[in-house]
Amino acid sequence: MTTNVLVVGKGGREHALVWKLAQSPRAGKVYCAPGNAGTAQDGTNVPFDGTDFERMTRFCKKESVGLVVIGPEDPLALGLADHLRTNGIRVFGPSKAAARIEASKVFSKELMRHADVPTAEFRIFDHPAPARTYVETRDYPVVVKADGLAAGKGVIVCKDTPDAVRAINRIMVNEEFGQKVGRQIVVEKRLEGEELSLLALVAGRSILLLPPTQDHKAAFDGDAGPNTGGMGTYCPAPVGTPDLLKKAEEDVFVPIVHAMKRGRYPFNGVLFAGLMLTNQGQRVLEFNCRFGDPEAQVILMRLKSDLLSLLEAVADERLGEFAEPVVWDDRPAVCVVMCSGGYPGKYEVGRPISGLDEAAKLPDVKVFHAGTKGLNGRTLTDGGRVLAVTALGDDLAAAKARAYEAVKRISFTGAHFRTDIADKALRRK
Ligand code: AMP
Ligand code: GLY
Repeated sequence: MTTNVLVVGKGGREHALVWKLAQSPRAGKVYCAPGNAGTAQDGTNVPFDGTDFERMTRFCKKESVGLVVIGPEDPLALGLADHLRTNGIRVFGPSKAAARIEASKVFSKELMRHADVPTAEFRIFDHPAPARTYVETRDYPVVVKADGLAAGKGVIVCKDTPDAVRAINRIMVNEEFGQKVGRQIVVEKRLEGEELSLLALVAGRSILLLPPTQDHKAAFDGDAGPNTGGMGTYCPAPVGTPDLLKKAEEDVFVPIVHAMKRGRYPFNGVLFAGLMLTNQGQRVLEFNCRFGDPEAQVILMRLKSDLLSLLEAVADERLGEFAEPVVWDDRPAVCVVMCSGGYPGKYEVGRPISGLDEAAKLPDVKVFHAGTKGLNGRTLTDGGRVLAVTALGDDLAAAKARAYEAVKRISFTGAHFRTDIADKALRRK
């Protein structure tokens, strides 16, 4: 019996999910709502998004969708998973209550404190004046975080006290990220170190760690420029040693997952810990309640097992009994994000993209689409992050070389990408 699947979202992560799910021998139709030009090739796009709960529910019933996989955080924070489950539809993704681990920084930090998970020292404020006094009396730099979701923009890493005061004013007084988002803030100690993305499939109390990945958040080479959603990844990240992963499971995942279960908001889906590897050990910077983008692209590129069975086991809370061990390609993967000139600031869309077919001819390369749309047989840019060009190689250097070979074959006006993805790990060798 085959299963029809619906993936919710329209980014590179969702294209990777659609592509991998469609390879399952048990997959029926693989839909994507609303999808992009890439998901239309590997699956079937449907014209509604993750905020249209009623339409999605009707569609799932009419088309006998047996599993909905929710990609981004916004529909999860709005309660899409709860709505679908209430309507008898099987879902991979956390409830609204569990999604607060990403949707509310205040909730997340309080939960970390309660569960004794290592994280940066912090205080929560609901008025700007005491927050200003607090930062003025710190002898270390801080990070100021708006409580709610702000498309990744509500986190301000500050270099000194005037910077921190400005950040507090931007969030709480000017309400630059929205009124609700800025009602409360977290002020925390700024940590130094290397960042690592550690994702795990979680169902109730069962935890299955996925291979460690490293993202490149800054827009330009050498980690310069403004923070983006992610400019490139590689997997596995060698800094994620077996010892480190074991410690992360024991000190981070087990306590948080158990605390969520005890709190009656058990987690179901992908739990993503953004870790900072400091001199004093690993600290959690944030939790996300979904696959990372572009972490998903490199992880799924290396997955050899059937993704559909794995996600169904999570959705049904059978992960603990999942009989088959998960098999990974031994080869590392590198993903280079090509984006529109100007991103993460202002950028233009609607530019024709050429060279996609030439890039696709390269072995062990997959060009995942993010902000793209198809029009009269052409593929046009349609967002900030446009493509996630992903390759496998016999070693990290080979994977990097192949990914950039593919990038070289693709062009659109104003295209920008980093040229140093994976260099941190390559330099260390
Ligand atoms: P978050 O959404 O909380 O992970 O923050 C986004 C980014 O801000 C992280 O990936 C880090 O690069 C940076 N960041 C967040 N918290 C801290 C911290 N305490 N110290 C240093 N950098 C941080
Ligand atoms: N690449 C980081 C994220 O998805 O949040």
